[in-house]
Amino acid sequence: MLAGILEHVEEGVLLLNGTRVRWLNPAARLMFPALEQPVGRPLVEVVREHRIDGLALRARESRLEQAAEVELPISGRILQVRAVPLHDGDLILLARDITRLRYLETVRQQFVANLSHEIRTPLAGLDLAAQTLSAELPADGDMRLFIDRITQEAGRLADIVFNLNQLAALDAEGIAVERLPFSVDDLVRALVDRYQVRAAAGQLVLRADIATAGSTAVGDRAKTDQALQNIVDNALKFTGSGEVVISASAELSRVEIAVRDTGPGIPGRDLARIFERFYKVDRSRGGQPGSGLGLSIARHLVELQGGTILAESIPGAGTVIRVRLPRAPLTSP
Ligand SMILES: Nc1ncnc2c1ncn2[C@@H]1O[C@H](COP(=O)(O)OP(=O)(O)O)[C@@H](O)[C@H]1O
Ligand SMILES: [Mg+2]
Repeated sequence: MLAGILEHVEEGVLLLNGTRVRWLNPAARLMFPALEQPVGRPLVEVVREHRIDGLALRARESRLEQAAEVELPISGRILQVRAVPLHDGDLILLARDITRLRYLETVRQQFVANLSHEIRTPLAGLDLAAQTLSAELPADGDMRLFIDRITQEAGRLADIVFNLNQLAALDAEGIAVERLPFSVDDLVRALVDRYQVRAAAGQLVLRADIATAGSTAVGDRAKTDQALQNIVDNALKFTGSGEVVISASAELSRVEIAVRDTGPGIPGRDLARIFERFYKVDRSRGGQPGSGLGLSIARHLVELQGGTILAESIPGAGTVIRVRLPRAPLTSP
């Protein structure tokens, strides 16, 4: 009865004994049509793909489930393959065709990329027209109010488009990431300098706290800087009073840059979601401007470098965002 059911599932199912195929369902026959009579033949001859064979081998040897995404060379289909070890060297191989899923992802990414690219030009035109008009108008009155509003909203739209563009660039494959040593202390100090005026305008204290002097990270300085800008921007935006501290510290194998604020904090149920695209806490309440893209971009930028990012918060007391990157090996002078 089980075999009868498996005849009808869309996932390709192959049962292996040792390296040989003992049974396979029709979906698997369609995915791997190389042999007329696959039963009894070695897996590699049936699937014609060494990576699937390697996956099965690893599962058999480790007795642990293995999974990988494989693109078949002839058909170009993209498969998500799992190898699950059973008793006595038997193994079950499950293959799901995710070609369409990947295709839709590409379409979505291209759509966002094209859209944000197309919006840029008319937006710049609007902004320019508003600024020209602004120069013609008297310094106060209703007209001034409206024109300022137009300029402000155009600026917000431009921010959103800039973020969308950046996300699209990050989505595109083959983005170049540097892996070079850079001084974390310098980066933190530069950030504090850059945002000092804005912090003062909001009557906030902004300072650096270098716990372990001389720490060096390995990664992409510009991308780390961009990620931290998004984080510091949030800290300054959401914190009403108190301070924002950017700290640098190092452990044996990694460095950490933390941005700590004395703002409203983030409720526990939202904390895990703030790195998602477009996610904002309490979107309905209006609150602060922003597209909800900043932290998702920051996470992307950090993870590209093999780093991690995480958030901790005590509602009512403040938030800490931690960025961790690989540390450069210590070299003797
Ligand atoms: N330092 C912070 N203090 C309080 N809330 C924060 C802080 N940083 C981020 N958040 C919350 O996480 C959400 C997502 O942040 P982000 O992706 O930068 O979007 P945006 O800044 O455009 O709103 C914010 O809308 C806010 O609700
Ligand atoms: Mg933000």
